[in-house]
Amino acid sequence: MDENSSALDIFGGDEAIKQTIMEHANEILDTMLDFKELMFYYTSAIREIRTKLEILDTEFELKYQRNPISSIQTRLKSRFSIIEKLQRKGWEISSESIEAHLNDIAGIRVICSYVDDIYSIAEALIRQNDIELIEKKDYISQPKPNGYRSLHLIVSVPVYFAESTRRVKAEIQIRTIAMDFWASLEHQIKYKKQISNPQNIADQLKKCADIITCTDLLMQSIRQQIDDEQPEKTELDKIYEKLKKFDVPIGE
Ligand code: GTP
Ligand code: MG
Repeated sequence: MDENSSALDIFGGDEAIKQTIMEHANEILDTMLDFKELMFYYTSAIREIRTKLEILDTEFELKYQRNPISSIQTRLKSRFSIIEKLQRKGWEISSESIEAHLNDIAGIRVICSYVDDIYSIAEALIRQNDIELIEKKDYISQPKPNGYRSLHLIVSVPVYFAESTRRVKAEIQIRTIAMDFWASLEHQIKYKKQISNPQNIADQLKKCADIITCTDLLMQSIRQQIDDEQPEKTELDKIYEKLKKFDVPIGE
């Protein structure tokens, strides 16, 4: 950088913009850094919760040779979505307002194999002393009218920093692979603006949701039947089972 250039050159040659930025630089940068710090709290909460879930999954695998969690997806709400939601709800746009009003900045989606796994994972997580359950919405026992099913938890988790501890909120959606398949496609379809007969589409989507509900219950019942049918284990079976546990990846 030569002596006449500055970081503000990225804004081109517009002197008026440079002047305004210089006048408000500290204020703007402080606001942006506050936001960055706040997002760091949320990503830290996501990392903590992900680790908790992975530990539960590995523990289950070691005990029962089966993974209840098929996959975990996480996302930090985008700046655009944050501002759009605050504006839509008529809330102030500030860090304080984000913390006070928005529960879904940190989002964790847990995709389970079977419906009963959803409740086992949720209960095991909520039972942990540091997790505080703020809200639970069971859209599985009571699906939304459009057919949407998932278990939603709003929790807060303490995040430990060098000099402080902060409780950070997160939204956890727990659903089966089948529920996720439906929700993902329904979400995509919903955002297509040109639908000539929306009621007809909604009816068909609801029908798919009903079929998926039956499939989920049937798959769980098949697993249960096979589990129940297993003959008494021989001594050799027991030894093989223990040996197999040595191959379970434990996150080393
Ligand atoms: P938001 O203001 O959107 O956060 O809704 P809410 O506060 O009433 O929360 P709710 O638990 O109902 O929904 C939260 C999230 O669940 C949404 O942001 C979606 O990710 C998901 N969700 C809820 N309903 C539906 C639905 O009908 N279809 C799909 N695909 N996803 C849904
Ligand atoms: Mg939301």
